[in-house]
Amino acid sequence: MRRWQGDSIYFGGDYNPEQWPEETWSEDVDLMRRAGVNLVSVGIFSWALLEPTPGRFEFGWLDRVLDLLHDGGIQVDLATATASSPPWLAHAHPETLPRRADGAILWPGGRQAYCPSSPVFRERSLELVRAVAGRYAEHPAVVMWHVSNELGCHNVHCYCDVSAEAFRVWLRERYGDLDRLNDAWGTAFWSQRYGDWAEINPPRAALTFANPTQQLDFLRFSSDEQRAQLRAEREVLQTLVRQPITTNFMIGLGVKHMDYHSWASDVDLVSNDHYLTAADPQAHLGLALAADHTRGVAGGDPWLLMEHSTSAVNWQPRNVAKLPGQMRRNSLAHVARGADGVLFFQWRASRAGAEKFHSALVPHAGPDTKVFREVCQLGADLKALAEVRGSRVDADVAILFDWEAWWGVELDSHPSADVTYADRLNALYGSLWRAGVTADIVHPSTDLNGYRLVLVPTLYLVRDADVAALHRFVDAGGTAAVTYFSGIVDVDDHIRLGGYPGAFRELLGVRTEEFFPLREGEQVHLDDGSTADVWTEWVHPDGADVLASYTDGPLPGVPALTRHRVGDGAAWYVGTRLDEPATDRLVARLLAEADVRPAASAPSGVEVVRRRDADRTWLFAINHTDTEVRLPARGVELLTGGYCAGELALPAGEVAVVREDRADAFAVKEVP
Ligand code: GAL
Repeated sequence: MRRWQGDSIYFGGDYNPEQWPEETWSEDVDLMRRAGVNLVSVGIFSWALLEPTPGRFEFGWLDRVLDLLHDGGIQVDLATATASSPPWLAHAHPETLPRRADGAILWPGGRQAYCPSSPVFRERSLELVRAVAGRYAEHPAVVMWHVSNELGCHNVHCYCDVSAEAFRVWLRERYGDLDRLNDAWGTAFWSQRYGDWAEINPPRAALTFANPTQQLDFLRFSSDEQRAQLRAEREVLQTLVRQPITTNFMIGLGVKHMDYHSWASDVDLVSNDHYLTAADPQAHLGLALAADHTRGVAGGDPWLLMEHSTSAVNWQPRNVAKLPGQMRRNSLAHVARGADGVLFFQWRASRAGAEKFHSALVPHAGPDTKVFREVCQLGADLKALAEVRGSRVDADVAILFDWEAWWGVELDSHPSADVTYADRLNALYGSLWRAGVTADIVHPSTDLNGYRLVLVPTLYLVRDADVAALHRFVDAGGTAAVTYFSGIVDVDDHIRLGGYPGAFRELLGVRTEEFFPLREGEQVHLDDGSTADVWTEWVHPDGADVLASYTDGPLPGVPALTRHRVGDGAAWYVGTRLDEPATDRLVARLLAEADVRPAASAPSGVEVVRRRDADRTWLFAINHTDTEVRLPARGVELLTGGYCAGELALPAGEVAVVREDRADAFAVKEVP
């Protein structure tokens, strides 16, 4: 891994000077300096300008841009520029265009219009990478390389003949022989047995449910094909450049189809793009979850927020603008949760093109605006926070997350369409957030040593080794909680027989004989006062203690919540979809049992997170409420420079970062 951090927190955004006359560029650099910008991503969508006709490169304009930035002291994250192919490629090679499952061709005119398995695209894109890297490897402005852009954002699934052939190659590698594939895909069902590799296709539009394992393997293959582009570009870069290499992930945007856990080892630093769901008043919880997940993908290391927005985006049904202070809270929440850089899409708001109504650091109205003033403020804030760079985030709780489990659980022909992967994850995460407790969101194969509590939402598909590791964690004194429809299938999406929740039966000390999903809108009640919906199941305790049972619904008297003592720890099972108050109560009990405390005793609506290095700790407090709050803290407040002598007064909407006096870093937790 190549070292990526400079001596400050990165601040800046995508810079697309090619959209502007050259006269604008020096004003850009002046404004960047005014705002404290120190890193911009350049060239992301520049292929058509850099290579206007096949094989003829025009670098003059980019030379001038990079020199100008360097003269202004602005560093560059230089793109390989392969994100969107120029029209000439599709014109000369129509076979590079992606196809939908129904065979429809997806034409150029938007972006990313290429088949991810196309050898022609691969060859032409790598030629571009070679040219760009060869030219700018030694440019003093360049401190980082940016492979493509949001790989797979639009073109992750392609069903064309080229993709079909690549899928067969991938399957041969996975299974070796057809018997193994037939077995894994369960092709004895519905007369689907394959006698020749050539008979196999991607799951193209079919009359009814396509084979589930074929679908699952196609999702795996599609993530791998995108990853292959990353790896191919990285390989070229590694021979030519010495700077660290990244590509921007889309963790937490509901983007389902890239298995970033498997991609993380292909980048020197994890970087992520995050946009708020503007209509959601609780969007800051989604932001926190995305940031904690990005950190989980980064193995706990600091990461870079490559894109977010200063205000509204252009691609939601109603693009709500950020209120004063909101962008600052958003940005500093990412820093609290491990980001060592805050970048935006984009520097200057476009005047043409599909994103002209997207906010930017410099709005259409120019620098005399709320947005630009807040941008300057943020630049100053990040400068004041330089010392937190490189520190890590405290978390005693892990939440297990696996993209393959997500793919599996949301395949068709399941017991209830209301069971979605994000649902219980969001619910449990929300309860932790409200309790002021930070969680790492990690792959099930992560070493669980050092955590006190492990939450396992809807882990439908799970590997035996990961179940065994969780068992060892509990046995050694940990607390775990597993929610319904977990442990159901193996990696081939075959049911684990003998009763649900399959892989977790022994750990949880329960055996379910049948699922009883609920009708739309139907609610059930538990004898501990909880309300639930969506899901119930006929659970038999098999070693576990019953904590709550149904009082109504299809299964009155049947256990809904159980706890199994295992070694020195305990494993809880949640067999129904508890509502928010009940989930909060459950999580409070789990935290108490595992002896997990919040980062600080903060009033409700105040986000508290602690970062730590070898000798210091920093408490981040973000007030999402509209009144001033007080919380215990002692130390230097970095954003104001003041000293906080035991109590922090945090005005409505404000953020504070306290470098804690060591002795109090722990005492703080005890103050009621
Ligand atoms: C990202 C993308 C940017 C821009 C932005 C708009 O998905 O990487 O290029 O399109 O969204 O929000």
